[in-house]
Amino acid sequence: MKTIEHHLWHPVADAHALTDQPLSVHLLEQPLVLWRDGQGQAQGLHDQCPHRGAQLSLGRVCQGQLQCPYHGWIFNGQGACTHVPAMPDFQPGQAQQARPLSVREAYGLLWVCLSSDGHDLPPFNAEAQSGLRKLNAGPYMVNTSAPRIVENFLDMAHFSFVHEGWLGDAQHTQIPDYQVQATAHGFKLVNAQAWQPQSSALSSGGAMVAYTYEVAHPYAAVLTKVPGADSGVKPGYEESIALFIQPISANQSRVWFRMAIADFEVAPEKVLDFQNTIFLQDKPVLESQRPQLLPLQAGAESFVAVDKGSAAYRRLLQQLGITFGVC
Ligand code: FES
Ligand SMILES: [Fe+2]
Repeated sequence: MKTIEHHLWHPVADAHALTDQPLSVHLLEQPLVLWRDGQGQAQGLHDQCPHRGAQLSLGRVCQGQLQCPYHGWIFNGQGACTHVPAMPDFQPGQAQQARPLSVREAYGLLWVCLSSDGHDLPPFNAEAQSGLRKLNAGPYMVNTSAPRIVENFLDMAHFSFVHEGWLGDAQHTQIPDYQVQATAHGFKLVNAQAWQPQSSALSSGGAMVAYTYEVAHPYAAVLTKVPGADSGVKPGYEESIALFIQPISANQSRVWFRMAIADFEVAPEKVLDFQNTIFLQDKPVLESQRPQLLPLQAGAESFVAVDKGSAAYRRLLQQLGITFGVC
């Protein structure tokens, strides 16, 4: 049965990880195979041969097409079988067709949609701004559902505890009120503020930082952060970070951050080290949460006023009819 999740685009690999060798990935509990054809275009199929069910990703790429490891049938990126080696004169047809996938490359990642009528990619407006430098952090494997990870990304009240000394401080635990605004495809949290001892890789001191969070895809979110004037960060420095998640299974996810930063000088390792540190602080707490699937029914978990961003996210998942990663 196809659900909304099958009409969405999901990241499955770093773009640079895909070569002319078959790459096995998993999405929504389905095994898939990707490769680059002779033109360098990413191609993908469901990872099961229509002949005897062998895993196509164990095969090889032959002149831009994928050859099954078992009897050597060859498939193009549309799934059409182009050659049956045991019967070289046979013209393969519909019955020999493998199941094709829609594949796109964007934000330094490869994206897959399991349906031919996919929605749009999750938006990341900073991508188009040439004055911002783009970097990817991750992927991070996390043993929990994608919605638990999105909800954590939207949550500022954990900064003083999980990220003490980094994104939050034990002496500044209060989160001022913020606004939830509906958008065309989801919602925004506006003027979400927290006191941060080191708000980014570049900052030298503590400051109140204002964030905007935007959710326009059930397994993605974007934060834009503007440091205060007293933060010690040079004027104009503003960063936008997108969270993109590959839902591998209902309780297993792979996470990327697409960062757009104004500073072209700072060493990429410094930016990535910071992002790794922050996310590796989140990971054990995320993996400890039970249930691993995000509970959507009212009263399943306790909510206080500061959690209204989480409440908005859960409402969006319900409105969209999301079934994968929730309970
Ligand atoms: S199982 Fe793939 S060619 Fe036979
Ligand atoms: Fe966190």
